[in-house]
Amino acid sequence: MSDIPAPFEGLYDDRHLVWDRFIRVFHWALVASVTTALVSGFLLDASWIRLHLMSGSFAVALVSTRIVWGFTGPTYARFSQFFPSAEQVVSHLRAGTSHARHIGHNPLGALMVFALLLLIIALGLTGVAVLGSGLKTGPLAAFLSAAQGPFWTELHELAGFALLGLVVLHVAGVIIESRRSRENLARAMATGRKEKRDGDLVAPPKPAHLMLAVLLISGLEIGAVVTINALSQRPLTLPPVGTIAQVYGDECTACHMAYHPSTRPAVSWQLMMNRLSDHFGEDASLPEGTRTEITSWLVQHAAGSTDSKPAMLWAGLQETTPMALPDTSIWQALHASIDDDRFKRRAIYSRSNCIACHKDAETGWFSPFQISIPKEPSQ
Ligand code: HEC
Ligand code: HEC
Repeated sequence: MSDIPAPFEGLYDDRHLVWDRFIRVFHWALVASVTTALVSGFLLDASWIRLHLMSGSFAVALVSTRIVWGFTGPTYARFSQFFPSAEQVVSHLRAGTSHARHIGHNPLGALMVFALLLLIIALGLTGVAVLGSGLKTGPLAAFLSAAQGPFWTELHELAGFALLGLVVLHVAGVIIESRRSRENLARAMATGRKEKRDGDLVAPPKPAHLMLAVLLISGLEIGAVVTINALSQRPLTLPPVGTIAQVYGDECTACHMAYHPSTRPAVSWQLMMNRLSDHFGEDASLPEGTRTEITSWLVQHAAGSTDSKPAMLWAGLQETTPMALPDTSIWQALHASIDDDRFKRRAIYSRSNCIACHKDAETGWFSPFQISIPKEPSQ
């Protein structure tokens, strides 16, 4: 790499080459991916999950390459160059404006670097746990239950807030330090260079081990992809998809989609099945044998007995007369972000027609990966 501070460059250039090309590309790519992940995680609704997952994974992949580069990169990329001791941090804080100028990361900046890297890894790990528990996909799906979903989601969110806080501190730190040292540190991260001044704390140059870095990084990323794929393929205990009893399909889908048994608790099904002659204003009566057969199948697979995130929500339904889910506060809370007029589109026609927007509605999963709100036809 031509960016490695060659002895001549260091001697005759009037600027230090501090940040090598890898560090610069890494830094700005991380800014982009972390911003995308934070925005899609905090501000956009669940149907943006793919973007969130992609940007988050990309940030973790970047960080893992940065960690390798921290051991194999040139002078100022090395962790050993800027790993701060407690005394260094304290004296940096004490010195105010008078301290010597660090060419690489100053002790506080270094702490920030390590905190950011660790937090992004933690977000990746808790994110995979959220996927595996609540959403039942990814490498941990076979190991976690939906009941653990809220715990991991909370932890992931907390880490997200912590990252947001660190990013704000980091930007503030860069502005303050830029003023104090009268140099634009953000620009230095783009050009890689800082002007030379008397008394600079210059580190002894170290060469980059490019081949080693490439080998380690490819090994790491290939290993990660293989492990993730292998784990993701482990069988799951899904709600009884495809086992929808024949008679249920025959009798209960004439007027609407097949509502999965896990969309209500057992008592709600009994309530509904006991008064089919007055079924949401329709007569859906069935011969007694068929009615009991369907009822016992519904009760057996009802919300309380299914390990999925929505089933856990529906298990909390408390009805005295059968209600359509969109009339319940649980459903309304889930759909609060959606404009009313979206439900009025012709392809949807009823809020109870879940399958118009949730491609997997009949499986009971309601995965964010399967949400797509139909567009209004343009004619
Ligand atoms: C004659 C037509 C008809 C038949 C047959 C019928 N339903 Fe319904 N069902 C309705 C209507 C109308 C609604 C109101 C929902 C809507 O506005 O789309 C409804 C609503 C429901 C809901 C609530 C949907 C929600 O949003 O929570 C469930 C559950 C349901 N039906 C189950 C069944 C079951 C089980 C059977 C078979 C025993 C059945 N239905 C047979 C017409 C029918
Ligand atoms: C107009 C399209 C539309 C219809 C119809 C609809 N939903 Fe949704 N649903 C969405 C969208 C969009 C989200 C994501 C909302 C968010 O994250 O703020 C969502 C979220 C959900 C979630 C949470 C998913 C998660 O893991 O975060 C569940 C569960 C759910 N819907 C169930 C239902 C059920 C049950 C019905 C039918 C009774 C239904 N939805 C009808 C669009 C729809």
